[in-house]
Order: sequence, then structure tokens, then C-alpha cells
Amino acid sequence: NKKIIVAVDGPAGAGKSTISKKIAEVLKLEYIDTGAMYRALTLKVINKGINPNDVKSILEIMEDTTIEFINNHVYLDGIKVDEEIRKNIVTNHVSEISKIAEVRKKMVDMQRKLSESNNVIMDGRDIGTVVLPHANYKFFITASVEERARRRYKELLEKGEKDITYDQILIEIKKRDEIDSTREIAPLKKSPDAHLIDTTNKTIDECVNEIIEIIERG
Ligand code: C5P
Repeated sequence: NKKIIVAVDGPAGAGKSTISKKIAEVLKLEYIDTGAMYRALTLKVINKGINPNDVKSILEIMEDTTIEFINNHVYLDGIKVDEEIRKNIVTNHVSEISKIAEVRKKMVDMQRKLSESNNVIMDGRDIGTVVLPHANYKFFITASVEERARRRYKELLEKGEKDITYDQILIEIKKRDEIDSTREIAPLKKSPDAHLIDTTNKTIDECVNEIIEIIERG
């Protein structure tokens, strides 16, 4: 009955959350989407009309902000925000806010607490490197940037976002990758002990099976 902690990292649109959710189901783990936490705070900043560069105001509102996961839904100050946090406006500001040191400190504390009570699979950018360096299993899930942009574009169209083009999404995803991987604190990078999973030419189920095999092998 050993505790199981699975850390999943990788760039935007690589399939991390879809794959992690399926693995959580099969292996009966709790799924924790850390990107959703940064997104929820970003949504609040935008809704309050705060400039994403105004660090002081962001830290002030963060003080009385609650972010919770209940039955796999994300709640910001008690209100379900699953859909709103996926909007492109939130996506395009989240990296600015998640590079702030105090924001990361608070999120990392919350994430570590969430991992204490259960067997978990947690996905993000710095899980294997910073948040849960002692995870039993680490995976770095990636795909070519063009493939990731295609997936995001398709996803946004399906959700009814208008006025977007593939070329624009490609630029946005490259920009977010750049900010996430070059920031000073906890930049996106593969932990040396993480298994690399390239999803470019694989189906979701192929990736899920590959990961489950690695976990079950021990
Ligand atoms: O995973 P997702 O695309 O929802 O993450 C949104 C953003 O949140 C990332 O682009 C990154 O800026 C930030 N993030 C982070 N650290 C994490 C998870 C997400 O900085 N562990």
C-alpha cells in the first residue's frame, strides 16, 4: 500500500491533462491540474481589471482568493470556473502572472498540501523539478509545436471561440513556451529522471498505455 505520486510536465497542448485524467481513472489516483490554479488567479486578475504587470495589486487580491478542486471541478472564491479559465484571453495572460515569485510560492504550497492526503497524478510545468521532486514516477510529455498549435486551434474552434486563426494560435503558443521555459523561477524543463513521452504521432490511448506500463513495471 505504498503511496503513489506521479508528476507530469510539458509544454502547452502536448496532451498532459487529457492523458493524466485517463491515467487517474485507470489507476484510481486523484488528478490535480496545477495549470488550472494559475488560470483561476489569472481570471480573477482580468475580471478585476488589474493590469497583468501590476504585481503589487495581484499579490493583494491573491491574499483573499480561494482556489479549490471539488469533484474534478475548479472553484474560484466558491464559484465554478472550469470553462472560463480555458478562454483564450486567460491563456494569453497566464504566463505573465505565473512567473511572479510570490504567486508561485503560494501555488506550490497549496499543491504540496493537495498531494499529502491521497495518491495523486499532478500535471504542470515544474512538478517533477520543484513541486514534487520525490515523486515515484515522472513524465515529460511533449509534441512538436505545430502539432500542439493544431490541437489548441481545433479545441478552441469546438468551444466556439471566434476570430482566431491557426497562425495566431501558433504564435501565442510559441510565446507562452518561451515565457514558461525562460522564466527565472521554476522554468519548464524536463527533470533528468523523467520519462520522455512524445505524443506528436501517437494517439492518446497509446500514450496512456505506455505510461501505465512504466508505472506498473514499478
Ligand atoms: O497547463 P496549462 O496550459 O493550463 O497551464 C497554464 C499556464 O500556467 C502555463 O502556461 C504556465 O504559465 C502556468 N503554469 C505554471 N506552472 C505549473 C502549471 C502551469 O507556471 N505547474
